Amino acid sequence: MKAVTFHGKRDVRVDTVDDPRIEQPTDAIVRITSSGICGSDLHLYEVMGPYIDEGDILGHEPMGIVEEVGAEVTHIKAGDRVVMPFNISCGHCWMCDEGLQSQCETTQVRDQGMGAALFGFTKLYGQVPGGQAEFLRVPQAQYGPIKVPEGPPDDRFVYLSDVLPTAWQSVEYANIPKGGSVAVLGLGPIGEMACRIAQHHGAEQVIGIDLVADRLERARGHGVLAIDLTADGDIAEIVRGATDGRGPDAVIDAVGMEAHGAPIGKLAHQLTGLLPDVVGRKLMETAGIDRLSALHLAIELVRRGGTISLIGVYGGMADPMPLLTMFDKQINLRMGQANVKRWIDDIMPLLSGDDDPLGVDSFATHRVPLAEAPHAYETFQKKEDGAFKFLLQP
Ligand SMILES: NC(=O)c1ccc[n+]([C@@H]2O[C@H](COP(=O)([O-])OP(=O)(O)OC[C@H]3O[C@@H](n4cnc5c(N)ncnc54)[C@H](O)[C@@H]3O)[C@@H](O)[C@H]2O)c1
Ligand SMILES: [Zn+2]
Ligand SMILES: [Zn+2]
Repeated sequence: MKAVTFHGKRDVRVDTVDDPRIEQPTDAIVRITSSGICGSDLHLYEVMGPYIDEGDILGHEPMGIVEEVGAEVTHIKAGDRVVMPFNISCGHCWMCDEGLQSQCETTQVRDQGMGAALFGFTKLYGQVPGGQAEFLRVPQAQYGPIKVPEGPPDDRFVYLSDVLPTAWQSVEYANIPKGGSVAVLGLGPIGEMACRIAQHHGAEQVIGIDLVADRLERARGHGVLAIDLTADGDIAEIVRGATDGRGPDAVIDAVGMEAHGAPIGKLAHQLTGLLPDVVGRKLMETAGIDRLSALHLAIELVRRGGTISLIGVYGGMADPMPLLTMFDKQINLRMGQANVKRWIDDIMPLLSGDDDPLGVDSFATHRVPLAEAPHAYETFQKKEDGAFKFLLQP
């Protein structure tokens, strides 16, 4: 089959690889019809190279048609239309019972000290072949795959794999009071969807911050007060001005480790991308590799006693944090990978009618064949050509 594979920093290719096969009675094989490219894939493309091997298959936002199931898989069968959550979870351990599927005790990557395995996401997360491919082996398929109805195009359901539950969790964790305010840093797919969900949940004031003009414009189209990070003026002043001088009740950081505007982190970033893997890994584990400007802005913006919900992925082990300010402002902080399955029953009703309240049908800007993945990665990373969300369609 054809699959999108990692070959080095900013080098992904479409290779011919072996077709996946059922290996466990809990596996399924799915023929992929759509597969998103995510901001998280850009971390792999740019900095996480020390944790990936050449040839690893990328992708964790897939949906498709079941080809074959193992003996223990009974809730889906060949021919069913399914979406795969990006985290691989068992559905029967203590963590899964608690709704903490991203910490699943059956798939935890213990030798790396990490949580549940993820599709297509480095040795830290189990090095499981990903879903930007013609076919995907789905482990723990007795629980993971979400069956969706026939009819609407893939766009309607594909974001159940990641964007929707991730944005949903970020809003749940932000704990915005009814009629309250939230600032969302980063208006990529995750941040923008978080804005839409916050509005849906009854937030009165939704402020978005980014520096890409067409992303700001897009968010404005949805009633967000969108502020350009690079515009003249003190961002914190502008945001406080819009929130009774106090700052928003919550801030969602949907940027993550590649935040624009932090020179030291940028240097570490470039180094990890250039050094031999062992040295690069060491640097990431012992130095602050993240570009922390977005997180520091979140701490500055949030009102005293408010909540920061961190959904953007960070990866350094020794990042400096302004604990004096965090303590003094009495900030609540929640974070983590999305527990995808936990939120599906809440989200599904919003996808079943014709009204499409979250606007998923028109969310993607680019739908391209798998063969064009290398160009798609490059365009998405550079945010050229209005690139907002890519769906690869094998
Ligand atoms: N926790 C999870 O389960 C989970 C799941 C999916 C994605 N993510 C993470 O969410 C983040 C966003 O994903 P995405 O697909 O929307 O990515 P993206 O790269 O498309 O979006 C990030 C946006 O942040 C903006 N930005 C950069 N620096 C900024 C700054 N200093 N202030 C404000 N905005 C800034 C960029 O211009 C961009 O529009 C990534 O870190 C991704 O890894 C987390
Ligand atoms: Zn993703
Ligand atoms: Zn589990």
